Amino acid sequence: MVKAHTSWKVLKHGPLEQLSDNLWRVQGALPGMSLERVMTVVQRGDGSLLLHSPIALNEAQQAELESLGPIAVLVVPNGGHRLDAPAYKQRYPRALVFCPPQAKSRVQEVVAVDGTYLDYADDGVVRFEVLEGVAEAEGAMIVRSRDGQSVVLNDVVMNMDKKKDLLGYFFTTVLGSAPGPRVSRLSRLVYVKDQPALRAHLERLAALPGLARLIVSHEKVAHGEAAAAALRQAATYLKPS
Ligand SMILES: [Fe+2]
Repeated sequence: MVKAHTSWKVLKHGPLEQLSDNLWRVQGALPGMSLERVMTVVQRGDGSLLLHSPIALNEAQQAELESLGPIAVLVVPNGGHRLDAPAYKQRYPRALVFCPPQAKSRVQEVVAVDGTYLDYADDGVVRFEVLEGVAEAEGAMIVRSRDGQSVVLNDVVMNMDKKKDLLGYFFTTVLGSAPGPRVSRLSRLVYVKDQPALRAHLERLAALPGLARLIVSHEKVAHGEAAAAALRQAATYLKPS
């Protein structure tokens, strides 16, 4: 496991990509591997920003992010996605940190946690569901935008192409995390404790009214009807009840 960065350390990343009126994403590199990560940015009803799986950006793009609104909430979506959280908290000390209930102890090793997904009340734009069947290790963040609802998941569903470099081959082929959308073999081993329960939860998310997109932390977005199809396809990697 890579150590969390305690200073602002910028790795290669793409632009701030707008997905809807109040929703953006940035895709960026992880240290030493071809697998990439995604930060999801939401502007809440009060204009402030919530960052899901925060990525430290270069100064020009960090300024662009700051111009959208004050950074109020940092979401660390599991114990392994804490890489840039301490540097963010240092730079934005007033931001509150939230994570899934079971991730709290690991996240707290590197940054103070203000609450879990269970403590985050629906703010009118963002709400959280703790995913069933994963022992509260991850959740679903659901975002309301003008064009519909977006489901944001972390490691539990991946949507990537296969990687050809050695470590990438290990992650995507040996550990079965690509091609996506799917629940990876690694996730099934590490996170999933009750496959039918998680499968049912993914199917419920697929049936959300006005589902406009599925965003995952690794890597691709599914838009429109492909969002529900992606969730249903990922669910097929889990045993039914
Ligand atoms: Fe991850």
